[in-house]
Amino acid sequence: QAESAEASTPATAVAAAPAGKTPLTIVYGSESGNCENLAQDSKKLAAAQGFQVTVKDMGDLTAKDLPKAENLLVLVSTWGEGDPPDRAGAFYEEVMGDGAPKLENVRFSVLALGDTSYEHFCKIGKDFDLRLENLGAQRFHPRTDCDVDYDEPYKKWIDGALHDLSTVVKPASNGVAVGSAAVVAPAAPAIAYGKKNAFPSELKNRVLLNGRGSAKETLHFELSLEGSGLKYDAGDALALIPKNCPDDVNAVVAAGKFDPEEAVPAPDGSEGPLREVLFQYYDITGLTKPVLKKYNSLAKSSDIEKLLADDSKEKLKEYLWGRQVVDALTEFPVKGVSGRDFVSILRKMPPRLYSIASSMKAHPDEVHLTIAAVRYDSHGRSRKGVASTYIADRVALGETVPVYTHANKNFKLPASGDTPVIMVGPGTGVAPFRSFVEDRQADGAKGKNWLFFGDQHYSYDFLYQLEWQEYLKDGVLDRLDVAFSRDQKQKIYVQQRMLERSKELYGWLEEGAHFYVCGDASRMAGDVHEALISIVQKEGAKSPEDAEAYVKDLQKSKRYQRDVY
Ligand code: 2AM
Repeated sequence: QAESAEASTPATAVAAAPAGKTPLTIVYGSESGNCENLAQDSKKLAAAQGFQVTVKDMGDLTAKDLPKAENLLVLVSTWGEGDPPDRAGAFYEEVMGDGAPKLENVRFSVLALGDTSYEHFCKIGKDFDLRLENLGAQRFHPRTDCDVDYDEPYKKWIDGALHDLSTVVKPASNGVAVGSAAVVAPAAPAIAYGKKNAFPSELKNRVLLNGRGSAKETLHFELSLEGSGLKYDAGDALALIPKNCPDDVNAVVAAGKFDPEEAVPAPDGSEGPLREVLFQYYDITGLTKPVLKKYNSLAKSSDIEKLLADDSKEKLKEYLWGRQVVDALTEFPVKGVSGRDFVSILRKMPPRLYSIASSMKAHPDEVHLTIAAVRYDSHGRSRKGVASTYIADRVALGETVPVYTHANKNFKLPASGDTPVIMVGPGTGVAPFRSFVEDRQADGAKGKNWLFFGDQHYSYDFLYQLEWQEYLKDGVLDRLDVAFSRDQKQKIYVQQRMLERSKELYGWLEEGAHFYVCGDASRMAGDVHEALISIVQKEGAKSPEDAEAYVKDLQKSKRYQRDVY
């Protein structure tokens, strides 16, 4: 509840500290909740060192608030093609823009979250870091860029930042010793299942959702949370830690001519035979620039050097496209590299996040997922998604999968059950909406529910068709509009159905409806966004600028939320 109270304080509330304590403002921009969680953790640590801490979501701030922050920590993630989190977009543009205020009296440090698999790694964090400096602020601790496994670098950053800050300012007048967080902080909680300790969840059921003849392979999974103590809300995600496909392990071992029995370290420091350690603990497929760079410290190939040195990055991008670690081992072979050297260039197996497709209120002790098995050919090899084919092919019913729940505060049902809800979820994007509708039914929520669903073919790809039809019959779902793209010559997509129903859709928005989009980020989410703006423009008789501002307001007030990937 403290959460929502904080979110609703006015944007100008970058508070002054009471006498005696040094103020510290922590600003975060979060998409899936990681930065928000880290911001809350930073707050705890800083408060324990005697700082007077205010935490703010970028979505609730304007650039004008920044000069009031004497001491500033910025935590922000980067998405897709170098984009800021949805709710942080307006603030980011403002700070980057010409009208941004001077920040000569501000000290700052930036933590950037990102994913080295993407070209624009940590771009938003880097942008803030440079921009704050250019606006006159003083960097008291260097920026840290984190890959998906961010816990350790975060810890180093926050410890370093608080330490450095306390050497330039005195955190508190009440004598709390600087750097004594370990002493002041409460004892670690008893071991529970979570990120640091994944729960072995039994796979209870697996159902292929597509019919025969479909080009898709979308599966429904039911996993047990019994005895885990893990909880989730509609809109949250489940993190799943996969194991590699043994064929991929063998291919990598063969390509590198490694000894599969060589004892090598796992990321946690324990040792085991290379074959086993690769199978369980390392990302042996993802070929990124950092991995290629590290590989070249072993391979010393002038061809790799050329790729890495290319300023335009075009050649590197072209090379990495559709290639995996096994391709680098094959195409740039090195003699005499040990398994130990090889694992030192790999990153730890990253967990995969899937939007949860069930409500705990309807399925206590269970969590359901909707996952498309990823399989394709590239550069003469057949390839598969590690996590999707792990759970689709390699986990038998009754076996367990390591999981933990991941809260997503930016994809939540309205607080009131009376508020209408519009959901746009083509393909596997429908998953969280199954969770939403189950949740609203279990609550007996009176608010109207409208689902837009799309996929290739009505006959094979209408995911959860019977469930939606039951919901319609029972009046839980008020409207269902479907777009089957390949049942006719002309492609039909969900956004076209939205435009066809623009009058009603705008009517629902004017009644206070929340609007949700889940699924493909590369094209669908952008096209749906444009459609939404044009609906508001047409039905609200607004200028393009006013329509855009209306939609931005929806985002700011959390009435327009996205979960896109
Ligand atoms: P297509 O693959 O036939 O083009 C789920 O994958 C559904 O989303 C499919 O019907 C797919 O259509 C559709 N889709 C593809 N691109 C889209 C876009 N830009 N906007 C909306 N739907 C899209």
